[in-house]
Formats: sequence, C-alpha cells, structure tokens
Amino acid sequence: MTQDELKALVGQAALAYVPDGGVIGVGTGSTVNCFIDALATMKGRIAGAVSSSEKSTERLRAHGIAVLDGNAVDSIPVYIDGADEIDRRGNMIKGGGAALTREKIVADTAERFICIADESKLVDTLGRFPLPIEVIPMAAAQILRKLRRLGGEPSLRAGVVTDNGGHIIDVRGLAIADPAAMEREINQWPGVVTVGIFARNRASVCLLGTPQGVRTLEF
Ligand code: A5P
Repeated sequence: MTQDELKALVGQAALAYVPDGGVIGVGTGSTVNCFIDALATMKGRIAGAVSSSEKSTERLRAHGIAVLDGNAVDSIPVYIDGADEIDRRGNMIKGGGAALTREKIVADTAERFICIADESKLVDTLGRFPLPIEVIPMAAAQILRKLRRLGGEPSLRAGVVTDNGGHIIDVRGLAIADPAAMEREINQWPGVVTVGIFARNRASVCLLGTPQGVRTLEF
C-alpha cells in the first residue's frame, strides 16, 4: 500500500470516533484532508467543526461542512489530527504544516485527541523530524541562539508566515528524551508562541495505518 492509501485508510477509520450531533475539532495536513473528505459523506450527523487552519477551513466549507468559531463552543468531544511523529506514549511532534498553534489551541479545548497517521510516523524517541516552533518575528534571533545552546541546529523556515503572522523555526538534532520537560522549557521563552511538542496535549488514541490495516494504539 502507498503512503497515500494508508492516509486514506486512517482518515476513513476516524469516522468511528465522530460523535452524533456534536462539534468536532479538525486538524491540518494531508492525512486530515483524507479525513475531511470522508467526513463529507456523513456531514449531516455533526453540528459543525472547529478548524485549526485556514486551509482546513477552506476544505471543510467546500464540502458544505459548517465551520464554527472556537470561542463560541464550550466543549469539543474529539479532536482529529495528524502528526509528524508520535511516540509509544502518544507524545507528538507537530507543525510540519505550520499550523501548530491553532492545532494546540483546539486540542486543548477537546476532551480526546485522535491522532491519524501512517506507520512511518511512529518512533521510539521524538526528534528525527525537525522540531517546529512558532515565534514572534522580533524574537527569532534570540530564540535561535537559545536553541543552539540547547544542542540543536535551528533554522528559520524561509518564506513562511503562519495564520497568526508568526515565523517558524525548525530544529534539527534534538533527541527529545523528556518531551514534557522540553515543551515546558521552550514554551516559557519570551517570543515563543508555541513549540511543536504535544506532550501536555498528547494523543489519547492513535489510528496507525499499516499495510495489514489500521492498528489502534490507546494511551
Ligand atoms: C500541521 O501543522 C501539522 O501538525 C500536521 O498535522 C502534520 O504535519 C501532519 O501532516 P501530514 O498528515 O500531511 O503528514
């Protein structure tokens, strides 16, 4: 099976987690695009979606799915999103698509995070995928220096401005042995908007696409 077929498989499998009549949180990325396309087949059964990016909003609306303002919603039973890496405890690296801040906001509102990913995303230790960090542009140089001191090789993602007007730094060469501690540390630096480690908001369930079918990991 190709990677695209595995993404389509888990996008379809995530429909089983969509609550009847509820509001769902929707992430961003190519795997989530498969989920949005599958969701369109049962759109009458949900009240609407809170979206994590302009791109997902556009795709949801193109299917006629109502997109709700997160501020107007009290509870989101499930948030469905992909990941760039996920470990065996449900900790993730996200932000490859630069949508990490809004993703973390919606994930934080949701009761459960259902991660959908092809099997190439499962790792023992996070950090092979360069860690994305959204920053306020005027703080970028100082944050690059601090990341070098931490042992990483950071670089500014060229030409990218996020939906929030932020810039993205990608950090190579970090072996993230303690994701929660590193998330806490980097998040408190002035000018950091969001670090792409999702430990505090880790996955509750991962639907992992494999050639043998969907493997469900519960954390
Ligand atoms: C977007 O900013 C990311 O967090 C995505 O969730 C992540 O990059 C997964 O994307 P794919 O499904 O395209 O691999």
